[in-house]
Amino acid sequence: MSDVNRQWQVAHTPQSEGMCQERSCFGYAEAQIPTPGEGEILTRNTHFACEPLVHAMVRGVPGRIDPLPAGEVLQGHAGGQVIASNNPSYAVGDCVPGNIDWADYALSTGEGLTHAPDGFDLPTGMITLGMTGLCAYIGMFGICKPAQGDVVVVSAAAGGIGVIAGQIAKLAGAYTIGIAGGAEKCGRLTAEVGYDAAIDYKNDDVAARLAELAPGGVNVFFDNVGGPVLDAVLLNIANRGRVAICGGISGYDNPGTGLENLITMAQRNVMMQGFWYSEHSYLFEEGISCLGSWLRSGQLKEVFDMAEGFDAVPDAARGIFSGANMGKKLVHIADA
Ligand SMILES: NC(=O)c1ccc[n+]([C@@H]2O[C@H](COP(=O)([O-])OP(=O)(O)OC[C@H]3O[C@@H](n4cnc5c(N)ncnc54)[C@H](OP(=O)(O)O)[C@@H]3O)[C@@H](O)[C@H]2O)c1
Repeated sequence: MSDVNRQWQVAHTPQSEGMCQERSCFGYAEAQIPTPGEGEILTRNTHFACEPLVHAMVRGVPGRIDPLPAGEVLQGHAGGQVIASNNPSYAVGDCVPGNIDWADYALSTGEGLTHAPDGFDLPTGMITLGMTGLCAYIGMFGICKPAQGDVVVVSAAAGGIGVIAGQIAKLAGAYTIGIAGGAEKCGRLTAEVGYDAAIDYKNDDVAARLAELAPGGVNVFFDNVGGPVLDAVLLNIANRGRVAICGGISGYDNPGTGLENLITMAQRNVMMQGFWYSEHSYLFEEGISCLGSWLRSGQLKEVFDMAEGFDAVPDAARGIFSGANMGKKLVHIADA
C-alpha cells in the first residue's frame, strides 16, 4: 500500500459563472494516509462518479449546499472498500458507495455512505442502485407515472439518469423519445439504449421534431436540462401532461433566459414538479428492489463511460458539461 494519499482539491474559486470550464479549479495535492479515530472508517476509494453536482460543491446551491472553500478536498459521489474500521456498522472489506473525499483514501463516520446491495458490484451500487437510478425511478414513477401508450420524453437522455429513465418508461409501456447532443449519441440511444426515437438538440429543431414524432402531444417530460429544450417540450405538451424537473444542466455554467412557453401549463392543465432525490427516501427501498430485479432479468441495461486513472478526474468531471459522456461517467482509480 502506497503511503501517499493523492487528493483533488478546490484550487481557487471559479472566475466564471461555473467551475466546469476552468481546469485550474482542480488542484492536485498529496497528504499522508489518515488513521481512523473513534467511530470512523478508512476507505480505499476505487471509483469517482462525475456528477453535475461537482459544480455545486464549488459554486454552492443556495439553501442546500455550501460551497467548498479553496484548499478543501473535493467531495462527491464515489465508492471504495473499507480497509480499517472503528465503526461497528462497517467491516473491513465492505464495499461502500456514497459521498466521500475525492482522494485515494478517505476517513468517514459512515454518514452519507451505504453498503453496496448484495449481489451487485460497486459501480452498480454507486450508480444504478444509487442516486442516478433512484433519480430516474423517483422522477418517472413517483412523479410522472407514465401509462401504457403515453409519449415520454427525456432530456440529457444519453446521460447517467437519462439512459435509465428511458428504459424504465419503456418497461411501463410508453413510447420513448430521447433528446441528446449529436447524431452519434442519438443513434446509440435508439440502437443500444432502446429509445423509440431520438432528437439531436444541437442540430434539429426540437419543437418541430416533437410535433412530428408526437402529434398527439407529449404526456410525460423528464427534464434534466431546462432552458430552450424545456421550452420546446412545453410547446408540445399534451393536455394533462406531467413534467418532472430533475435538473437544469444547461444553466449551470451559463444562466440563460427565461421560458417563453410556460403558459401552455395553464392552457393544457400541466403538472410540473421538481424533486431533490434525497427527500424522496420513502421510494428508495422500492426503487432499489425494482431496479435490481430489472438488472437481474436483463430488462435494464447499464451504460457506464469509464475513464482510467487518478489524473483523468478533472477532464472527466468537466467533460459532462460538454456532453463528452455516454451513460454515467466514472473514473476508475484503483482495484478493490
Ligand atoms: N434532483 C436530484 O436530486 C438530482 C440528482 C442528481 C442529478 N440531478 C440532475 O440530473 C441531471 C442529469 O444528471 P446525470 O447524472 O444524468 O448527468 P450526466 O450523466 O453527467 O450527463 C449530463 C449530460 O447533460 C447534457 N448536457 C450538458 N450540457 C447541456 C446543455 N447545455 N444542454 C443540454 N444538455 C446538456 C450532456 O449530454 P448531451 O451530449 O446530450 O449534451 C451530458 O452528457 C443534471 O441536471 C443533474 O444536475 C438531479
